[in-house]
Amino acid sequence: MRYLTFALTKGRLAQQTMALLEQMGISCEEMKDKSTRKLIFTNEEYGLRFFLAKGPDVPTYVEYGAADIGIVGKDTILEENRKIYEVLDLGYGKCRMCICGPESARAYLQQNQQIRVATKYPNIAKDYFYNTRNQNVELIKLNGSIELAPIVGLSEVIMDIVETGSTLRENGLTVLEEVCPLSARMVVNPVSMKMDNARITELIHQMKTLLQQN
Ligand code: PRP
Repeated sequence: MRYLTFALTKGRLAQQTMALLEQMGISCEEMKDKSTRKLIFTNEEYGLRFFLAKGPDVPTYVEYGAADIGIVGKDTILEENRKIYEVLDLGYGKCRMCICGPESARAYLQQNQQIRVATKYPNIAKDYFYNTRNQNVELIKLNGSIELAPIVGLSEVIMDIVETGSTLRENGLTVLEEVCPLSARMVVNPVSMKMDNARITELIHQMKTLLQQN
């Protein structure tokens, strides 16, 4: 039997996914060892392999077939726009993609002004401002701590993920518009879906059943 390889987004998504798989009787003890420098972990019983990757790299591994299955946030799927199948909403990692800024920036949106928008998600922002809002803006790509941008005057607003809203609150910012809801998804390589259809379909079915019970 060929190994089915999972690419998991490092961090909480990977932990929640391994917890879910464990409920299905699929465990990977090696992966729990925090001191290990190993990059890939195997479950011989089920013929599965797992590796951890940065979120934006997960759709890349899956598109090229280096991983058959990926676990990744919907935000990353939208941003990366890879040729992969999205097969299951896992329901965890729930948050929202939003336009945020100081309350005073609301008027710039209402008046469709040519503002600067800082974001880690330039493709999602481009689509939202140009196609949905028909607003011409200047996009500025950042790699983290996006909330800083309007505070220090780099941009008028940001497009970013809001989970609890506490980062915004603690920095005097607010949600000005909601773009879309987000959560963790399972994605599959299209060729793997054909070649290993029975195994992958069964896995999706089991995960879906478990998620409904949880
Ligand atoms: C994310 C996001 C926000 C924050 C939202 O950042 O970019 O900054 O979490 O969460 P909250 O609504 O619960 O406060 P992350 O911690 O992933 O780090 P980053 O700023 O380096 O992107």
